Order: sequence, then structure tokens, then C-alpha cells
Amino acid sequence: MADVEKRPDTVRLQRISKAFWESAALMSAVELGVFTVLASGNNTIETAANAMGIEAINAERLLVALTAMDLVTRDGKTFSNAPDVDRFLVEGQPSYAGPWMLFGKPRWQGWGELTERLKTPVSEQRILGMYDETFTVERARTYHEATYSIGMGAARRFHKQVDLSARKKIMDLGGGSGCYCIVGAQKHPGLKGEVLDLAPVVEVTNEFLSQNGVTAQVTASVCNFTQDPLPTDADVAIMASNLPQYNREIIAGIVQRVFDALEPGGEFHLIGEMINPAGDGPLAPALWGLSEAVNHSTGLAHSTLDCIGYFENAGFVDVAEVEFIPDTLTRVTGYKPGA
Ligand SMILES: C[S@@+](CC[C@H](N)C(=O)[O-])C[C@H]1O[C@@H](n2cnc3c(N)ncnc32)[C@H](O)[C@@H]1O
Repeated sequence: MADVEKRPDTVRLQRISKAFWESAALMSAVELGVFTVLASGNNTIETAANAMGIEAINAERLLVALTAMDLVTRDGKTFSNAPDVDRFLVEGQPSYAGPWMLFGKPRWQGWGELTERLKTPVSEQRILGMYDETFTVERARTYHEATYSIGMGAARRFHKQVDLSARKKIMDLGGGSGCYCIVGAQKHPGLKGEVLDLAPVVEVTNEFLSQNGVTAQVTASVCNFTQDPLPTDADVAIMASNLPQYNREIIAGIVQRVFDALEPGGEFHLIGEMINPAGDGPLAPALWGLSEAVNHSTGLAHSTLDCIGYFENAGFVDVAEVEFIPDTLTRVTGYKPGA
């Protein structure tokens, strides 16, 4: 008998329309420390409730939801963490990424106003988007506690893929916590780094550099990379995780300015949330692009092809794309001719 084509139903639509309930459950779980509590052996509703300082009914609500989300598993009266949760969401471990799970929370209200923000005229967009006068040192510190908790892993991955042992200096555009320079300096004692970022961030960058003992090799400078001069003594440039914050014209201009500033023979690695050339995914970069409507910036999701074009138009050669974090970050790399 021929297959009867399945009639569309509302299951998928219902799930997506309430997906923010899941986000809220995960973020509250991190804030209440439930995964840390379970790992410490307080793994029944009553003992977990006590350890979190909430009432049993609320611990039950949360644990049942987290179980249905496959973040914890249940065996009768006891609950335990799923393997990824155990590795990344138990506080006190070096791989703890709880702050990164809370990274989007300051924009919770903004996402709730997405419709209004999508109706905002282009003339009201700001080049620096969310980095306005409300982006204080305090906010930058919370923001980069989050990026650091995930960025050090990304930086280690980068330095495993890319050998900078023969290079002398990295300029890191929008380097934030400085993670790419920190790992580079730890791996190559002769390598220097200069983290370029906005004024409130640079104060925080210096804290991370001190904490990691790399201040003899890595410095941080105030630089708005969309307009300020870039250092001219670097043979490596990195720009990671800020691509969707700017429109095509601005990114093309930045890539050109990096090309002009790099030493001949230098290399540029643009690590960004890029969509595919067909423009139909992956989902994470597409949503990073949408989030720029929330931030009132000019930004959007750039494709891998767009980025390769920015590099080639600027004069870079041997331009190549490499998947960096599957379905999330792609690395486009190019070299400045001459040496
Ligand atoms: C999401 S964070 C990424 C930080 C770091 N690259 C990483 O991968 O962990 C984006 C960073 O870019 C910086 N940034 C954005 N626009 C900038 C600009 N125009 N000039 C300098 N820094 C900028 C922000 O202040 C922030 O520190």
C-alpha cells in the first residue's frame, strides 16, 4: 500500500512557540545550582530542594521539567545529570560554562519586544548596537565572565588547529576576555598579543590577563575597530564572535583595514557565526543575526561566501573556510601576500 502522506499537525509549531519556557528552565537551573546540587549527592526532590533553599514542590516542578528536557535522568526517586550537563554545568570544574548559559538573559526583555524592534526604521540603527552608554565596566565584566567560560575552550581548539609558533604578534579585534591571546601566549613563549576592544571591556581584559599571568606578553588597548587605527606590527589578526554585529559594508571595511595593517605575509582568522551560501541555516548563526534587531544595530547573519568575498576583495590570498564549532562558528582564513 502506498504511504499516506502525513497531514501537517501543530506539534512542531507548539514546541517552537514555547521554546522560551525551556530557556527559562535551564537558566533558573543554573542560577539555583541544581546540577551542582545533584552532583554533590543531594539527588532526591527533598534533598535537592533543601540544598537549593527552595520548597519541595518547586524542586519537583523544576526537576521533572529538566528530566523531560533530557538534562537530567530519573531513576525512581533519584535524579542525575546527563553527561554534557555533568561536564559543563557543575560548578567548581574547570570546564564550568554556567555563565555562558546566562549570557542571553540580559536581553530577555528585548526578545519579548522583537516585533516592535523589527518595526524600528533602519535610520534608528546604531553602529555599535548594544555597546551603548549602558555598556559599563560592570556589565562588561558579567558579559566576559560568560564569554571566558566558553571562549577558553574555543581558543584552545583554535591553537590546536593553527600553528603560530613562527609568528611574533597577534592583534585580536574585539578580543574581550583575551582568551585567544592568553592561550597563544601560554603555548608560545615568544608570541606577543594585543587585545583591541572598547574602553569598558579593556579594563576587564586586563583583569583576565593578570589572572592568567600573561601581562608580559599580552596587552590590551582601547580601539573601536570600525574606525580607529589598527596596530601595524602584527603578523596575525584574529576577530572572533562579533561578525553578526555589523552590516556587510562595515565588515568589508574592517577586513580591508586588517589587510592594510597586517605585516606582509601575515594571516587573518575571522571566526564568526556564518550561515551557509544558500542562506537557509544553520539555526544558531541565523538567530545571532536576528538578535541584532533586538540590539538596534546594523548587523545581520553573514554567509561563508560573503566572508570569503570580503577577504578576496581586500587582497587576501589562499582564502579558505574551516568549520570551527559545528553549526555555530566557521573560520575564514586568508594571507596577505609578500613576506
Ligand atoms: C561576543 S564578544 C567576543 C569576545 C572574544 N573575541 C571571544 O571570542 O571570546 C564580542 C567582543 O567584541 C567587542 N567589540 C564589538 N564591537 C567592537 C568594536 N567596534 N571595537 C572594538 N571591540 C568591539 C565587544 O566589546 C566584545 O568584547
